[in-house]
Amino acid sequence: MRVLGIETSCDETGVAIYDSECGLVAHTLHSQVASHTAYGGVVPELASRDHIRYLIPLLEEIDATAENIDAIAYTKGPGLIGALLVGAGFAKALGYAWQKPTIGIHHMEGHLMAAFLDPIKPTYPFLALLVSGGHTQIIAAREFGNYEILGDTLDDAAGEAFDKTAKLLGLAYPGGPLLAKLAEQGRPGTYNFPRPMLDRPGLDFSFSGLKTQALYAIRDKNLTPQEQANLACDFEDAVVDTLVKKCIRALDQTGLDTLVVAGGVSANKKLRTKLQDFATKKKIKIFYPDLKFCTDNGAMIAYAGYERYKRNLFDQSLSIHARPRWPLAEC
Ligand code: KG4
Ligand code: ZN
Repeated sequence: MRVLGIETSCDETGVAIYDSECGLVAHTLHSQVASHTAYGGVVPELASRDHIRYLIPLLEEIDATAENIDAIAYTKGPGLIGALLVGAGFAKALGYAWQKPTIGIHHMEGHLMAAFLDPIKPTYPFLALLVSGGHTQIIAAREFGNYEILGDTLDDAAGEAFDKTAKLLGLAYPGGPLLAKLAEQGRPGTYNFPRPMLDRPGLDFSFSGLKTQALYAIRDKNLTPQEQANLACDFEDAVVDTLVKKCIRALDQTGLDTLVVAGGVSANKKLRTKLQDFATKKKIKIFYPDLKFCTDNGAMIAYAGYERYKRNLFDQSLSIHARPRWPLAEC
């Protein structure tokens, strides 16, 4: 059985085919970074138009046809409403034309499933840290589709904080990976960034204060390139330390011994190294998606679609629904 996956929640147009026997058999992606760079962030209308422009060529590129797929999975939410509607409308029209069932996928379940594209898969139950441009959550995954949110961000997501601080440093969009690269040249310990919410019980996050502190440290200061790298290094340490400590706390509280880390920020090397150090010491099993599947892609949606197909969880009607806000626990 083969599932076509379509991802259009934000600024990447991704399509892929997952085969129940052979695994991922095709995937491709169009990154819209070039369209948004000039504006320093994603322009929703441009994102929608680019999805419209690229979906058919990408589908042709992976050679998806009515004959070689059995179902169509698409990102139903959360995300930018226009971008989601393009993907949902496209998937429904294709499903009608090809007479295939469609499956609406929660984008964060997709991110979680990216870790299952590897031959060695996590086993339930596990704890997951979902860190992207729009989300920072710690969840307990009891089984596929059964997710309890244990911690969430009260304001900015970790990726958003990376991107906003990167912008203050004059780095291009999306700044997270560029800030992490700059941080490699930095010397730690110059800037005293706090570790937000660690002094309080619970598993919630807050990153907007860190970003404001970065603003005060950068604004009107004319930092030298070395000072900029030092700031990037200390900022990254503060975000990573906070994420790691909350994961440790969550593992302690739940008694779970498996951790899955997914979403765009799971590509961050410092985060991976620090979590790996802890996991090795405490004999925690840790799983990450392959680097190319950390950020948005169609493969994770195709895999989530395959899991839902197995459970007969199909859309019940042809009507087009997108959910720009959609709690993961309700999916
Ligand atoms: O999952 P994703 O592609 O999109 C959302 O669902 O939001 O995540 C994108 C986010 C951006 O904020 C980007 O800056 C961040 O992931 N990101 C990183 C790294 N790679 C991507 N942040 C820090 N370090 C990285 N290496
Ligand atoms: Zn994402």
